[in-house]
Amino acid sequence: MRIVCIGGGPAGLYFGLLMKKLHPSHDVAVIERNRPYDTFGWGVVFSDATMENMRVWDPKTAAEIESAFNHWDDIELYFKGRRQRTTGHGFVGIGRRKLLNILQARCEELGVELVFEREVESDLEFPDADLIVACDGVASKVRNRYADAFAPDMLTRPNRYIWLGTKKLYDAFTFDFRKTEHGWFQAHIYKFDETTSTFIVETTEAAYHAHGLGEFSQEQSIAFCEKLFAEVLDGASLMTNARHLRGSAWLNFNRLICGKWSHFNGRSHVVLMGDAAHTAHFAIGSGTKLAFEDAIELARQFEHFGHQTDAIPKVLEAYEEVRRVDVARIQNAARNAMEWFEVAGRRYADALEPEQFMYSMLTRSQRISHENLRLRDKTWLEGYERWFARRAGLAPPAEGRAPPPMLTPHVMRGVTVPNRIVVSPMAMYSARDGLINDFHLVHLGARALGGAGLVFGEMTCVSADARITPGCLGLWNEAQVEGWKRLVAFIHGNSPAKVGLQLGHAGRKGATKVAWEGIDQPLDHGAWPLISASALPYLPGGQTPRAMTRDDMEKVKSDFIRATRLAIETGVDLIELHCAHGYLLSSFLSPITNLRDDAHGGGHENRARFPLEVFRAMRAVWPDDKPMSVRLSCHDWADGGNTAEDAAIFAAMFKAAGADLIDCSSGQVTTDDHPVYGRMYQTPFSDKIRNEIGVATIAVGAISEADHANSIIAAGRADLCAIARPHLADPAWTLHEAARIGLTDVAWPKQYLSGKSQYETNLARAAAAPQPIAPSSSS
Ligand SMILES: Cc1cc2nc3c(=O)[nH]c(=O)nc-3n(C[C@H](O)[C@H](O)[C@H](O)COP(=O)(O)OP(=O)(O)OC[C@H]3O[C@@H](n4cnc5c(N)ncnc54)[C@H](O)[C@@H]3O)c2cc1C
Ligand SMILES: Cc1cc2nc3c(=O)[nH]c(=O)nc-3n(C[C@H](O)[C@H](O)[C@H](O)COP(=O)(O)O)c2cc1C
Repeated sequence: MRIVCIGGGPAGLYFGLLMKKLHPSHDVAVIERNRPYDTFGWGVVFSDATMENMRVWDPKTAAEIESAFNHWDDIELYFKGRRQRTTGHGFVGIGRRKLLNILQARCEELGVELVFEREVESDLEFPDADLIVACDGVASKVRNRYADAFAPDMLTRPNRYIWLGTKKLYDAFTFDFRKTEHGWFQAHIYKFDETTSTFIVETTEAAYHAHGLGEFSQEQSIAFCEKLFAEVLDGASLMTNARHLRGSAWLNFNRLICGKWSHFNGRSHVVLMGDAAHTAHFAIGSGTKLAFEDAIELARQFEHFGHQTDAIPKVLEAYEEVRRVDVARIQNAARNAMEWFEVAGRRYADALEPEQFMYSMLTRSQRISHENLRLRDKTWLEGYERWFARRAGLAPPAEGRAPPPMLTPHVMRGVTVPNRIVVSPMAMYSARDGLINDFHLVHLGARALGGAGLVFGEMTCVSADARITPGCLGLWNEAQVEGWKRLVAFIHGNSPAKVGLQLGHAGRKGATKVAWEGIDQPLDHGAWPLISASALPYLPGGQTPRAMTRDDMEKVKSDFIRATRLAIETGVDLIELHCAHGYLLSSFLSPITNLRDDAHGGGHENRARFPLEVFRAMRAVWPDDKPMSVRLSCHDWADGGNTAEDAAIFAAMFKAAGADLIDCSSGQVTTDDHPVYGRMYQTPFSDKIRNEIGVATIAVGAISEADHANSIIAAGRADLCAIARPHLADPAWTLHEAARIGLTDVAWPKQYLSGKSQYETNLARAAAAPQPIAPSSSS
């Protein structure tokens, strides 16, 4: 087979040498525009896991790379006059030039033809090649030539960075955040050989322009960075090796995803590899790792399907299928980390204290969790847990383990919830005439006994015609208060939990069947007339609601006031106004469901006018010492709908009107939505609102383990975590999760204490038991 790799970066060189090693009769050439020792960039980092893989495929290259490695475990942060350090993070770094030289030497040894100083304009320059590997970097000419086939999606990110070096040697992966009159700058610094460290400086586009960095020469930019980072540089100077770049050398990162990775050009198969196929931001240092792993996977598929030309189509298909998944996973983590650095200045740096800023930075990719940090650096994490517990008003021991963040109390006005776990509101469709019955008492009572700090009842409707279904709870008469009183008395009398009551009006999503008879399906009999912001049915063919008149608004407002007064009688600790999921008040907030042309339609202020009017009226009667929350759909997941930016604007308005808490949900506003689900997928909304608007939040959605909740609370991405479906599976979710992370000093109901010790013993036995050995063959 004749193989041509266009581009002599890590991808091309490594793939070239692997193929020549596996099948010496292949004719393999690597074509590179630069000279052998000419390269941009300083050092690269990658993980132990990548090395493990490389050891299997070519031990010799792996050994040489390892002997040139700089290994370090610590991360150090300079921030607000403090230096903080943690250990156990395990990075390896190597100079890019050194790395390429090792790969080049190995290529020569194996007989790969290396051609330097040749600029390739097109793959058609190699008509006799069977396989052309386009590993010509992020600006790949080959990929751009077949843009229709490869469908590249390139997104230019807003931050600017400059890649510099210094002779000062750092013994930790060092981050330094500095504030100027125009905003925050951050340096990412790591040593990569015995004489040099990489020093990447990053800032926002706005700060870059405000400082005029776009007009600076490289020398001027260096002088600027040296002055700004003088403390961490400690007298050392910065240098550039990007002389090939014209202008100021401040770059934007380009995120690349390709729709297809291979193409037949009529004579040869062309395949993308490394940065030509995908990019991952340097915030998690994975570009070189991905390039190597691409090369390994393509070689592996040739081993699997055979090293003949007729196997190439199958090989390329399998390669793309396997790599796409892994690349997407890394790109996802890289995106989280990249976005963290993009917003760190405006969102976290001013708001968070140094300890929490450090925690937030360490968990920025959301792949490193609380328990993961404990494995890396137990001493540091325990110190952080004690710091967090003290801030939450506890008095932890001077040494050892404090309660983890999710089990610390949270104060809102005169109410202290004993821990951060919330039973999210969940409609049970089991009421008659809106009345609480034994089902609700047992259901919610069990969850309070199960350890949650705040137990929400389901959406409770402010009038009979405000209900979603005939089975929904209501609060419009004294009889309904009685059931709530009994429930509240039970929970307060038998657990430390607080009780929340969510008040809502179904709007255009009303008069439907209970969930198990057809969710959102209109009632066959007994439907009542519906109202909404605009006269749009929720389902095609469903009942069209009446667009609310001023009289309707007065009536609904007085229903909410009445329900709030009744809620005072119930003794609940907190009420939440439901402004999410497409129900009545949500229908005003979303531009998809609000087409009004009066004072209640149009911009944010108009769309929020009625929901705020209701909220203020409720706040005026709800006791001052009790908190109120507002649930928002923070993203409509639909074209033309609200996004997190809109949600933040509404959150600020509710905060100004006296909301203590924003409960950050999303979606369900229109049937035409496309939510992007995933672990903790709505938490970014909570993070944004909490830290940009400065209001306490509840994160909710696919938070299913203590580890998730602890990471979210500890990083300041939310104040409380609401858990919905896992609480349907396990009423004692909080107690069980606490036991799973090894906490034994958690209070169980005294009646259940003998179950506690047995549960903990069983968990300990299961953890100590040898793991079953997998069968060696699947046959
Ligand atoms: C600031 C910054 C920091 C980074 N830090 C890290 C890190 O810490 N860890 C990490 O793993 N990655 C890091 N990366 C990413 C890393 O540099 C790339 O992801 C990695 O080098 C990809 O390898 P590649 O072989 O696909 O592409 P490249 O390394 O870009 O190699 C492509 C090669 O093709 C050559 N070429 C291009 N066009 C032509 C042509 N027409 N004709 C001939 N030759 C051509 C180029 O000269 C180049 O040598 C960083 C990137 C940046 C920008
Ligand atoms: C059966 C069920 C009923 C729900 N009812 C309500 C409700 O009455 N009010 C509300 O705001 N959200 C309601 N939700 C949404 C949940 O409160 C929560 O936001 C959602 O399930 C995501 O959390 P999870 O991933 O932990 O389940 C309901 C969810 C479920 C599963």
